[in-house]
Amino acid sequence: MSAQFPVARPRRLRRTPALRRLAAETRLSAADLVLPVFVKEGITEPQPIASMPGVVQHTRDSLRKAAHEAVEAGVGGLILFGIPAVKDAVGSGADDPDGIVQKAVRDLRSDLGDAAVVITDLCLDEFTDHGHCGIVTETGAIDNDATLERYASVAAAQAAAGVDVVAPSGMMDGQVAAIRAALDGAGHPELPILAYSVKYASAFYGPFRDAAECAPVFGDRATHQQDPANAAESLREVLLDLEEGADMVMVKPAGPYLDVLRQVRDAVDVPVAAYQVSGEYAMIEAAARNGWLDRERAIDESLAGIRRAGADIILTYWAAEVAARL
Ligand code: PBG
Repeated sequence: MSAQFPVARPRRLRRTPALRRLAAETRLSAADLVLPVFVKEGITEPQPIASMPGVVQHTRDSLRKAAHEAVEAGVGGLILFGIPAVKDAVGSGADDPDGIVQKAVRDLRSDLGDAAVVITDLCLDEFTDHGHCGIVTETGAIDNDATLERYASVAAAQAAAGVDVVAPSGMMDGQVAAIRAALDGAGHPELPILAYSVKYASAFYGPFRDAAECAPVFGDRATHQQDPANAAESLREVLLDLEEGADMVMVKPAGPYLDVLRQVRDAVDVPVAAYQVSGEYAMIEAAARNGWLDRERAIDESLAGIRRAGADIILTYWAAEVAARL
């Protein structure tokens, strides 16, 4: 009779928390988490972001405090987004040596030393009055190559301020090569590039555009960001960025693109980052606030999925909270 019963019983390894912990294939570690932070020029108090409860636009001082806390919790790094007091057509604040990002980099550099990696998002959308990631022509198109010249200058300014890693997010063709050349030319051949190689034209960036005050005033980003229907072009984008000199590559958003993340992880031998974006954050926070799901379990499960799909590094607005719990 007993032969009828299963010999193979997967449940054996699930019996106790200790067995489950021992048998876990993947785990999160604080050192792999990167906290995205917003710093706004000319404010005296941190400003809450309505669509991202728990996230704020920082003052320079409140950013220093938050960065210190995140590093105490063990995060591996921070990625900085700046909101300038004044915007213009070419995003002059982005490469101003006294621009808000450069100031914040200098603050963090002197506070944190080597305790965590300071990364800068390298784009123009937070700095342009039209909210686009590049130079806009008379017809409303984004001029790819004119934008590359701006990115080169922004990279040099961020490097001069002392950043550890630059992360170009504008999805212009050739941006990694242009930035690599600019960094090398400015005496920073050692400074790595984390390329937002795979970046979809996603609805899940909605809350970020409130946070960074960068919603485009006309049009959208579909002429440069990728079509959510596609996966193959993601590998092409990754391989191009590696040829151009990227040191690490990113997939963004994370949750809706776990298949792409896995394909990228299997295809390359550099660290792969995934960005759990503002909309992914807002969905869980909103549902939790309504009592519709268990907040901590949903956060942990969303991060486990991203790790399991192959991310070595995860950018998440929960980085400090989760790092403190680990
Ligand atoms: C561009 C940039 C965006 C995000 C990161 N870098 C916005 C966009 O492409 O529209 C979105 C991040 C998020 O939603 O959390 N500078």
